[in-house]
Amino acid sequence: NWSGQAFPHPPGRRPVVGDLLGADPAAPLQSTMRRAEGLGPIFELKIFDQKFVFVTSAELAAELADESLFEKALSPALVALREFAGQGLFTAYNDETNWALAHDLLRPAFTRDAMRRYHPIMLAAARELFDTWDARPGPVDVSADMTRLTLETISRTAFSQDFGSFTREDPHPFIPAMIAALRAGQRKGTLASMPGSAMMARRIDRRNAHHQAYVDRLLDDLIAARRAGDDDNDDLLGIMLHSPHPETGQRLDDVNIRHQILTFLVAGHETTSGALSFALHHLSRSPAALQQAQAEVDRVLGPDPDVEPTFEQVPKLRYVRRVLDEALRLWPTAPAFGRSPRRTTTLSTGHVMRPGDWALVLLPLVHRDPAVWGDDADQFDPDRFLPGRSRGRLPHAYKPFGTGERSCIGRQFALHEAVLVLAQMLHRYDLEPDPAYELQISERLTLMPVGFELTLTPRVPGP
Ligand code: HEM
Repeated sequence: NWSGQAFPHPPGRRPVVGDLLGADPAAPLQSTMRRAEGLGPIFELKIFDQKFVFVTSAELAAELADESLFEKALSPALVALREFAGQGLFTAYNDETNWALAHDLLRPAFTRDAMRRYHPIMLAAARELFDTWDARPGPVDVSADMTRLTLETISRTAFSQDFGSFTREDPHPFIPAMIAALRAGQRKGTLASMPGSAMMARRIDRRNAHHQAYVDRLLDDLIAARRAGDDDNDDLLGIMLHSPHPETGQRLDDVNIRHQILTFLVAGHETTSGALSFALHHLSRSPAALQQAQAEVDRVLGPDPDVEPTFEQVPKLRYVRRVLDEALRLWPTAPAFGRSPRRTTTLSTGHVMRPGDWALVLLPLVHRDPAVWGDDADQFDPDRFLPGRSRGRLPHAYKPFGTGERSCIGRQFALHEAVLVLAQMLHRYDLEPDPAYELQISERLTLMPVGFELTLTPRVPGP
């Protein structure tokens, strides 16, 4: 990997283990961010024999975004996730035919017209969550409740499957199974080259076997039930079960369909619930931004806090959208993606990248690059995304949804849902944070605030 080329690395490298000491296995992203300080736009961490090269400047991120020269690379963590998600869209290699087939088949499910169909389903799920809050006043665990909501939304819209998230006390068993799989991917990915890592991986797999078996059964039953029924449903599952590729006539097989469902259930909710939770955290700490957001929802949606936004009103909630854009700038909930060159390419730093070499774009640092975002890059300021201020900004300085043909297929879905839910929450409730709370972020490949509670009191919207 990288033919022995040298990169800056944090101080304290040791023989054999390399830069392992100082890496926090429970929070690798945050420890890497801390250790990146002063190392410049490209640096490496060596964990045993595995070299991780990270890119942190907007300029280098832009170089790697050139699709004619670079493509998606699967980091060791994503390779480890393939045990769970196989050749699903997220974890497929670029040249696997299942990727192009599923991508072509499913793209129509993510058009603006498709969003119009999902809108009432999104509203109904949000309504159920609000009902549970209204029935039981008191502080709410924001990340947990946002996760219930986004899981329910993706499962109902994509698979017409109700997970009953709002009526059960504990989260649906799918959630702990998914978290275990993501954590295992993160751990196996970080320690892949450690002596004895194969044994460790087997131990993790054994410990997770019952989760894996549970998820496989859940999804296989779902597929079998839909095959057995009189199914003319055109949700994502319906498309995968019944539509051949329009040009080649090829179809996805049942194992791949299971991997795609799993991929959409995970990719379709984890990151969106994190984005909503971070946005709520920032708003609860920024009275001026909160006031501006509430003034906007009152203006667009009117005085009745119970009214549900129409599909057409969602894009009018521009400030709410800027709040989410800014939340995803500071804490992009899918915080890194890998890039590999299609042919030997020299970076502006002079490093030569050959096919098979890969680098990780470390989004929270690219998104705080002072050359683009200024000296106050750590501050929450939604107005950075005012059209006037974004003009002329270095392209690719902001990539929360990845880049190129492997970028996020669910971007519109996530943004529609998140704007809708955040606007409704701001319309209905005042947010009261616990003044003693300091933001803590848990990592399971994705980022999520932990221990973050808000007390939501019904509000009377202004004129
Ligand atoms: C891919 C972020 C929501 C489905 C990606 C990638 C990123 C990302 C960074 C590229 C990963 C890479 O290059 O390795 C996000 C964020 C979201 C979000 C921040 C929410 C705020 C969603 C939703 C869905 C979804 C709602 C589905 C409904 C996918 C899929 C891929 C993907 C299937 C793989 C695409 C491919 O390679 O063809 N996402 N995502 N995501 N996302 Fe999202």
